Amino acid sequence: MTPPAAGFGTRIVSTGSFVPEKVVTNFDLAEIMDTSDEWIQKRTGIRQRHISDQSKGEGTVSLAINAAVDAFEKSGLAPEDIDLIICATCTQEMTCPSVACRISERLGTKKAAAFDLAAACSGFLYGLNFAETLIRCGRYRTALIVGADAMSTVMDYTDRSVSILFGDASGSVVVTRDDDPARGCQYQLMGADGVGWEALYMPRREVDIPEHDRDNPIKLGMLRMNGREVFKFAVKKFQEVIEETMEQSGHSIDDLSLMICHQSNLRIIESAREKLGIEEGKVYVNIDRVGNSSAGSIGLCLDELNRAGRINEGDLVLFVAFGGGMTWASSLWRV
Ligand code: COA
Repeated sequence: MTPPAAGFGTRIVSTGSFVPEKVVTNFDLAEIMDTSDEWIQKRTGIRQRHISDQSKGEGTVSLAINAAVDAFEKSGLAPEDIDLIICATCTQEMTCPSVACRISERLGTKKAAAFDLAAACSGFLYGLNFAETLIRCGRYRTALIVGADAMSTVMDYTDRSVSILFGDASGSVVVTRDDDPARGCQYQLMGADGVGWEALYMPRREVDIPEHDRDNPIKLGMLRMNGREVFKFAVKKFQEVIEETMEQSGHSIDDLSLMICHQSNLRIIESAREKLGIEEGKVYVNIDRVGNSSAGSIGLCLDELNRAGRINEGDLVLFVAFGGGMTWASSLWRV
């Protein structure tokens, strides 16, 4: 729980995103595994996903840089104006240097702090919340937050229970100080419960695999998931997080202009929307086109909405995510 907003205000200067060119449809997947377009659409709402072309060197760094450059160029700022770069990801090609440092190299920022943040699909909101708080308290003026995950690089495409869900994408936002303290994040919430980690994990060593999952045929280095467990957790947590955020912020669901949530599964999003009585048009969905792109998802939604002219000054926008860890986060903004 956080106290009400104080200090400086904050505002979104610009947004950016990137999806790789290569498209993999459900029909393409049905050619390499025992699945069907009908099953995938019915259970997840996904029709297709974009994936990186690793033969061309595409991956998390290129996703992150493309989204970062997009938001940075639209911001009209100079490299020296950026004080902080946070890249949320769980699919780094290299853990040293961070992906954020590769963004710094590309943008030519010489003094901005830069680091990666690992909170799986909640990562973009963790980054946004941290950056907003640092700006609000006056420590930093301008931050670039990027969420990027090349999930295709951690998919075992012989496993139909996991690989149908994910795709590659990135999203980014430049946030800066605003003189009006009422502007920016009104309320934020971040949490984790490590007890649930075994439902979603990427083991690099045999020894890290829990006893009960030793027979799982998924290869080392690839994402393993207990879909049913994650589904149950997500449906409950999404609703709780939204309710707590609205209650603690003193706003009602009806005050919302938009809800931008992590695109995990259309059924999870719809369950929360229906239970809370949120109008359909206020909840953005792009999972049908891009699948679940982990930390890339919320920034991509934000940029698509921004480009469509649907983010207007004064709007009350709620961001919500959950992810591996298990982690969760929300961020309620007066944009
Ligand atoms: N195609 C066809 N059949 C499939 C399949 C696929 N891709 N994947 C699983 N099945 C089969 C199962 O083998 C099972 O068959 P059985 O009944 O003969 O045993 C049946 O479909 C039901 O499997 P189940 O795992 O119960 O399906 P589900 O309705 O839970 O849907 C997920 C599976 C993964 C789509 C769903 O659990 C989910 O989305 N979970 C949340 C995952 C998530 O959000 N992860 C990201 C967190 S950020």
